[in-house]
Amino acid sequence: MTQQTLADKKRKTVEQAEFTEDGRYKRKVRSFVLRTGRLSERQRNMMNENWATMGLDYQAEPFDFKAIFGNDNPVVLEIGFGMGKSLVEMAEQNPDKNYIGIEVHTPGVGACIAYAVEKQVKNLRVICHDATEILRDSIADHSLAGLQLYFPDPWHKTKHHKRRIVQPEFIVRILQKLTACGFIHFATDWENYAEHMLEVLQQFDSELANQSPTNNYIPRPDFRPLTKFEERGKNLGHGVWDLYFIRK
Ligand SMILES: C[S@@+](CC[C@H](N)C(=O)[O-])C[C@H]1O[C@@H](n2cnc3c(N)ncnc32)[C@H](O)[C@@H]1O
Repeated sequence: MTQQTLADKKRKTVEQAEFTEDGRYKRKVRSFVLRTGRLSERQRNMMNENWATMGLDYQAEPFDFKAIFGNDNPVVLEIGFGMGKSLVEMAEQNPDKNYIGIEVHTPGVGACIAYAVEKQVKNLRVICHDATEILRDSIADHSLAGLQLYFPDPWHKTKHHKRRIVQPEFIVRILQKLTACGFIHFATDWENYAEHMLEVLQQFDSELANQSPTNNYIPRPDFRPLTKFEERGKNLGHGVWDLYFIRK
């Protein structure tokens, strides 16, 4: 039998097992399905070799960002970075900010680390775990300068809409974690999800200011590098909707 390395084991530990009061396993509504995509040799090696410097594990107490990055720069969190190319590009373009990316798909985590190493990006850390648990337990309140979520799984079918990560309780959690004037930036290529995102965010009118001059979407900003899913959607003729809100 081949030896299970850190990268192989990560796939099985992307969430904490939770139990009901009478001790039964609690089934959660997840925003992801763990795809079976194979971890390439290079992705596995890059993950194993660089985890000590680039990886962060789930923890029940908040991370100490200053100790992690060695500076006080603002920290931006990205959920579901896919293969990580756009996140690495953003970190490279903004050395005065720190980035934390969360992704449950291990080949994506390996690919992101490989690209960050190639680009010699130092202001980025990655986490391979369910983002809702990381936000809840491992991120200190009022510690994030921004939260970005680009092309989250749209869960097209109505019966699956409950699996969409953007829900009122998700925004409540983000608001708890953002600093004053912190931003929320969402993008999607699925119009029905864009409308859902807008509807949910508008419920927080007293806490969030929409930066759209038309009070709905903003034009695609240049500072957001093209993501892999965005490119795929573009080739299929999909539109793109960006939502940008600032905490009041
Ligand atoms: C449709 S893909 C988009 C990836 C990337 N942002 C892009 O635009 O190319 C959505 C990603 O979010 C990840 N994801 C979904 N729910 C997540 C969660 N709760 N925690 C971490 N990652 C999650 C999925 O594994 C998937 O890779």
